[in-house]
Amino acid sequence: MPKIQKICCVGAGYVGGPTMSVIAQKNPHIQITVVDLNEARIKAWNDKDLTKLPIYEPGLDAVVAEARGRNLFFDTDVDKAIDEADMIFISVNTPTKTYGKGKGMAADLKYIELCARQIARVAKTNKIVVEKSTLPVRTAQAIKRILDQTGNGVEFEILSNPEFLAEGTAIQDLMNPDRVLIGGDQTEKGQKAIQELVDIYGAWVPRERILTTNVWSSELSKLTANAFLAQRVSSINAISELCEVSGADVNEVSRAIGTDSRVGSKFLKASVGFGGSCFQKDILNLVYIAKTYGLDAVADYWEQVIIMNDHQKRRFAEKIVTTLFNTVNDKKIAFLGWAFKKDTNDTRESAAIYVANDLIEEEANIHVYDPKVTEQQMLSDLDYLNTRNSEANQNHLTVHQDPYITLKDAHGIAVLTEWDEFKTYDWQRIYDNMQKPAFVFDGRNILDRKELEKIGFEVYTIGKGE
Ligand code: UDX
Ligand code: ADP
Repeated sequence: MPKIQKICCVGAGYVGGPTMSVIAQKNPHIQITVVDLNEARIKAWNDKDLTKLPIYEPGLDAVVAEARGRNLFFDTDVDKAIDEADMIFISVNTPTKTYGKGKGMAADLKYIELCARQIARVAKTNKIVVEKSTLPVRTAQAIKRILDQTGNGVEFEILSNPEFLAEGTAIQDLMNPDRVLIGGDQTEKGQKAIQELVDIYGAWVPRERILTTNVWSSELSKLTANAFLAQRVSSINAISELCEVSGADVNEVSRAIGTDSRVGSKFLKASVGFGGSCFQKDILNLVYIAKTYGLDAVADYWEQVIIMNDHQKRRFAEKIVTTLFNTVNDKKIAFLGWAFKKDTNDTRESAAIYVANDLIEEEANIHVYDPKVTEQQMLSDLDYLNTRNSEANQNHLTVHQDPYITLKDAHGIAVLTEWDEFKTYDWQRIYDNMQKPAFVFDGRNILDRKELEKIGFEVYTIGKGE
């Protein structure tokens, strides 16, 4: 097969968009077309005004500015881009199934299958197909069967190249990855395909950081990496509850254990619970796969990470209710942050959604300020939980553009996302305009508790005992 000249990426989302932008920036000789069925999304990727890109990710605008129109293109013509490409990345969404067998647990592979069938229908020349979306183990095999049995007799090599970028630091993670993982068949053709992709990453990633494996190891490694990271967060969150009742401080415990080089310091921040599109989905996939193989003990072990996370979100909401004298009925509760972490406009599985939902069950009025998330997104997040109808959600949710208006007259303030700007607010002014006693519930451990207490606030911090 000749050297790769044209790449097509199906799916212009949080993974496809930033990843292709960086690959294009670093490989100016390769023409890359990112396609999506969603016309509005493609239009936004092509917007001259770089603040209108559909994804907020620090540093992304500069990369797009450099490569777009040179060798990076965003388009809605999926068939044409597939037809012309030597290599096709599949970066479509793989949400958790909301129906049927494996509901709430297995990944919904509908979009992957549709995408594979589309490639099979359109392709007239040999192609390397790279799975980039997070997928359960052995999906590559399913993709291969669809391609081989419904295609036009052309040859497909399937590679697994899982994404390890974290949102909010995606560009940094892509520019300087700990490792790039590429799984492929152990056949000669498989190895050749692996080498093509190694060369693309090799344009900027040192060769020793590019790991090659068989396809299933690669797929499983992705799920395992996220399960281990999420497990650390659930572990420290479990300890946060113990700290609160025993008088310890989880920050001190984190620092003490994190300095043990065998443990390491990362992913030990206690929080209101992890969110994001990967952690929960990947663990659920792992649990589902283990169950499918009859490995119940393995399944139960990993499921506990999710159970702990659900508990953490719920107990935060309960803490707000009990502190506010056991009722939040008709009270104004102000949220700082809705995104699942700072520096992203992504809200998938954000703890804020679940906390808001529990408080709305208690008939609270939620007022939210998030620097990057739209009102429409927040409402659709609540509607997605299907706890009550959309009108009821709208009646209980008010979204503001100004943080001070959001916080004015509130009975309690809950910090749900660790946006840096929250630390710079005029907290005296906020205190003066609040209902008294003025409560702050810091779900992210970011505010200076002593300073707030000096002003007069009553502060609850995750993981800090009295
Ligand atoms: C994750 C993985 O890190 C990434 O490698 C993978 O490719 C996709 O999934 P992402 O979901 O973007 O990335 O964010 P991440 O930084 O991992 O955070 C996930 C959640 O855990 C966030 O809600 C974050 O706030 C929370 N978290 C993280 C904590 O609560 N405490 C921590 O110490 C770290
Ligand atoms: P991720 O975080 O995995 O990137 P997103 O939901 O942000 O997930 O992005 C996935 C994108 O894939 C969406 O914009 C969706 O419209 C697109 N998509 C899904 N199926 C197809 C398809 N068959 N052809 C083109 N685009 C698709």
